[in-house]
Amino acid sequence: MSYSAKAARIHQHGGPDVLVFEDIKVNPPGAGQVLIRNTVIGLNFVEVYYRRGTFPVPSFPAILGNEAAGIVEAVGSDVTSVKVGDRVVYSDDVHGAYSTLCLYPADRVAIIPHSITDHQAAAAFLKGLTARYLLKEVVDLAPGDTVLYHAAAGGVGLIFVQWAKALGLQVIGTVSSDEKAAIARAAGCDHVINYRTENFAERVQQLTEGAGVHAVFDSVGKDTFNDSLAVLAPRGTLVVFGKASGNPPLIDPFALAPRSLKLTWPVLPVFVATAPQLAAAAKDLFNAIDSGLINVEPSRIYPFEQLVEAHADLEERRTTGAAVLQV
Ligand SMILES: NC(=O)c1ccc[n+]([C@@H]2O[C@H](COP(=O)([O-])OP(=O)(O)OC[C@H]3O[C@@H](n4cnc5c(N)ncnc54)[C@H](OP(=O)(O)O)[C@@H]3O)[C@@H](O)[C@H]2O)c1
Repeated sequence: MSYSAKAARIHQHGGPDVLVFEDIKVNPPGAGQVLIRNTVIGLNFVEVYYRRGTFPVPSFPAILGNEAAGIVEAVGSDVTSVKVGDRVVYSDDVHGAYSTLCLYPADRVAIIPHSITDHQAAAAFLKGLTARYLLKEVVDLAPGDTVLYHAAAGGVGLIFVQWAKALGLQVIGTVSSDEKAAIARAAGCDHVINYRTENFAERVQQLTEGAGVHAVFDSVGKDTFNDSLAVLAPRGTLVVFGKASGNPPLIDPFALAPRSLKLTWPVLPVFVATAPQLAAAAKDLFNAIDSGLINVEPSRIYPFEQLVEAHADLEERRTTGAAVLQV
């Protein structure tokens, strides 16, 4: 017996229009698997990379989508960690979330606490786990340290800013419009720079009185990389974790020597690689939501059928915060 589902698939890389809705059949869950009826799907910039072909997909046709919340519809015979009817959320680098039904490894899902809605879970799981490991596991940061975060009004950005402030950091955020500046400021940024109208490197040097920042979190890549290195304090760390504007330039490691800088490109899957690591990170994230440390309500809810429009909005920089797709 197989299940009928509606999925958005791509048969080639390209613009938002390559996403097409099709009827598909989904197998019953095998050993170690759960079948999830998605209720709310998260929208992430990484899915733009996969759609465009910046990152390859394993084969065509491909169902993109890396994150969703939903209800367990069926479980494999050996699965005991979740049961039919449980509300769960998942966000691995496994595709398939752009669908009404999704087969998933049982040990890669988290049960959503009663206090958290499916909308919050789908808005926050991938982005919140990312903000969390960036702040807690990549760089040694102490209260009072100053960090620079690019695209601060974005999905990861708004969660990062709120959590960074809760940890006592000074946060400088960059954004591309005045509207986004107001949103980043409301999330807690101490200073916001519009990097379309201002030279952010000069402004950061002014704001820090020439001292520079302890760390830069840069998911923009090409457009910001060189100046991100330039504004680091001695022994500072550049954390590149995305490339929304394109590939950053290649550099000679010796360029890091005069100020003993560090450069790293971390990815979430490495930080939640084992089931215990995922469970511990999810618990920390859910606690942060429950305690009011971070607000993770979706900024916009698109009907799933408007996925093409949602992709266009995300890549054209029209979204702020975390947008989700209502199934
Ligand atoms: N390595 C990891 O573990 C990991 C995990 C999750 C996400 N990420 C990365 O983190 C970044 C944020 O992800 P997200 O899903 O929350 O997306 P997002 O921040 O909501 O959207 C991307 C933002 O990047 C900025 N941007 C700058 N130049 C751009 C350009 N040329 N085209 C499009 N956008 C541009 C835009 O903000 P402005 O308009 O304000 O410039 C845009 O809103 C992405 O690069 C993603 O790949 C990495």
